[in-house]
Amino acid sequence: MPDAKVKVGIIGSRFEADIHAASFQIMPEEAEVVAVASPTSAHAQELARRYGIPRVFLDYREMLSQPDIDMVTIAAPNSLHAEMTIAAARAGKHVVCEKPLAMTLEEADAMIDACGRAGVLLLYAEELFFTPKYVKAKEMADQGAFGRIHLVKQSEKHFGPHSPWFWDVERSGGGVLMDMGCHGIAFCYWFLGRPRIQSVYAHLATCVHGDKTVGEDEAICIIEFADGAIGLVENSWARRGGMDDRSEVFGDAGLTYANLHMGNALPTYSERGYGYAVEKAPSTAGWSYPVFEELWNYGFPQEMRHFARCVRGREQPQATGEDGRVVLEAICAAYASAGIGSKVALPYRPAGLSKPIDGWLAKKRK
Ligand SMILES: NC(=O)c1ccc[n+]([C@@H]2O[C@H](COP(=O)([O-])OP(=O)(O)OC[C@H]3O[C@@H](n4cnc5c(N)ncnc54)[C@H](O)[C@@H]3O)[C@@H](O)[C@H]2O)c1
Repeated sequence: MPDAKVKVGIIGSRFEADIHAASFQIMPEEAEVVAVASPTSAHAQELARRYGIPRVFLDYREMLSQPDIDMVTIAAPNSLHAEMTIAAARAGKHVVCEKPLAMTLEEADAMIDACGRAGVLLLYAEELFFTPKYVKAKEMADQGAFGRIHLVKQSEKHFGPHSPWFWDVERSGGGVLMDMGCHGIAFCYWFLGRPRIQSVYAHLATCVHGDKTVGEDEAICIIEFADGAIGLVENSWARRGGMDDRSEVFGDAGLTYANLHMGNALPTYSERGYGYAVEKAPSTAGWSYPVFEELWNYGFPQEMRHFARCVRGREQPQATGEDGRVVLEAICAAYASAGIGSKVALPYRPAGLSKPIDGWLAKKRK
């Protein structure tokens, strides 16, 4: 039924699953969430109650056997993205996979292949392609506002993730470069119009969370694009004060600065504190920067609406498995670069690694 709403099943029931459910609720015209699958029953039930989701499954495979579901969104730990995507494709479901796409390039290729064979879309959930402030910057760039762009910077920083699996590199694949560098790399690539990545250089360090993880909590990554432009991606899990997300663009005819949260926030002082300021801010007393319409300003509802419209053939996918693979290849090269201390040329296909961070850890431990 081409005019019916796209029926969505969400895999996972915590942080990002909640964002998916809320996003479909904010823009409900194109899609409706009909099921959630997660092994933690209480969380799944609670998500279902909060968003009025009628069906709850403990095993995502059971959800995949529901014939009416058109599209699944994967909001589970990184190490599960490949098996879930491939299973969903085989069940004939369109797939929205959270970032980073996978743990290895072999997995990424298998995911793209499985979706291609099944004739379903593999949509890569990179919301920065839909973030209104960043979309405005790109529109201006595409209109020539900044002339020839030679430098794009993107950074995301906070004091570390909310769930234990992020700190376990066997389940996450790496530290902050894997977790948030994927956004910055995708952003630079997208912003510049997807030029080929020629080389990557990265410096990584574990500065404050060495008790919790072997992963890096500070990452600086420099990307050389084939058109001569440079991408500078800075990420931290060691930055106090809640989420910071910003981008800068420099060309021979102009520049723009986009501070995603604080640029929109209300500079606020409170002796007593209040409910909520911004993602991962530990307190609201003293000076704070409360954001409003947080999900909208990130672009999550717009992203999910776009994906639903792609399923109906009304829009062409703007964020695909191929984008996720490009980003993952750059991440693998970045870890290898940090390991050897010099830049790594692409195409880069590491052999025998089970996760990107191995490229760094293997050298670091010697
Ligand atoms: N786009 C973004 O900005 C953004 C933000 C946060 C997280 N993410 C991504 O979303 C994904 C999930 O992260 P999160 O923050 O929601 O983590 P989380 O720890 O909050 O939630 C993970 C969920 O996965 C579920 N899960 C674990 N094993 C499962 C299985 N076998 N079957 C089904 N569900 C299973 C857990 O029960 C839990 O509900 C990750 O890939 C992460 O990188 C993206």
